[in-house]
Amino acid sequence: MSAYDAIARLYDPWSVSVVEDVEFYVDLARESGGPVVELGAGTGRIAVPTAAAGIRVIGVDSSRRMLEVCAEAAAQAGVAALLDLRVGDLRDPPVAERVPLVTCPFRAFLHLHDDDERLRAFCAARELLLPGGTLAFDVFAPGADDVAETHGRWLEREPGIFERANWDVERRVLTLSVRGPSGESTMKLAWLDPDDWRALLERAGFDVVAHYGWFDCRPYRGGEDSVWVAVRRER
Ligand SMILES: C[S@@+](CC[C@H](N)C(=O)[O-])C[C@H]1O[C@@H](n2cnc3c(N)ncnc32)[C@H](O)[C@@H]1O
Repeated sequence: MSAYDAIARLYDPWSVSVVEDVEFYVDLARESGGPVVELGAGTGRIAVPTAAAGIRVIGVDSSRRMLEVCAEAAAQAGVAALLDLRVGDLRDPPVAERVPLVTCPFRAFLHLHDDDERLRAFCAARELLLPGGTLAFDVFAPGADDVAETHGRWLEREPGIFERANWDVERRVLTLSVRGPSGESTMKLAWLDPDDWRALLERAGFDVVAHYGWFDCRPYRGGEDSVWVAVRRER
């Protein structure tokens, strides 16, 4: 069971205001020509608009229920034929194809809890890529203000949907709970400093070609959000 199964019907209303990254990932997919492997594809927030742009997407997710919602959204958008959804772990994705672009949008790599898991995921992503192919993903590391404002409090993120963040700053682990009319769940997210993400990418055989501070491609200047674009290094 994935922690997301219980909130598969809550996920879209919960994340309804998260729209800033869609164009970024769809543009990358278009530039790559596809197909794209999206790790942690979820309900298709990015995968469905990518398919709507005419790009084939192989979506991998450990939550069968999230992928069920994704399949419904794809059918509704008339793009089901371009979406190939597979239940599986992003550390060992069930994908034999080789592609020009692998993405992992909206912080899904934070579900990995130590460097062994992260390295495994990066190496697996590298294996999926054609020579010169690109891995793109985003993560965050909280600022002290954010931690102070939100720690241990139930906050209404969207009407009727509440979330509570418990920050363990020393261990760099966020325990995030969400509850709403159609489900509730608690999950752990582990963050790193940007230098640590960069070091892991390099160890896994990537060259970092861009590290942005937001999806409009502004340079990273020390904020909470990190958007990474790395290319497969040929050894
Ligand atoms: C924050 S959601 C992002 C979903 C989607 N990419 C988006 O942008 O809305 C994280 C997704 O990663 C999936 N996930 C978490 N750990 C995973 C793992 N080890 N393997 C595959 N999927 C995983 C969850 O089931 C969830 O659908």
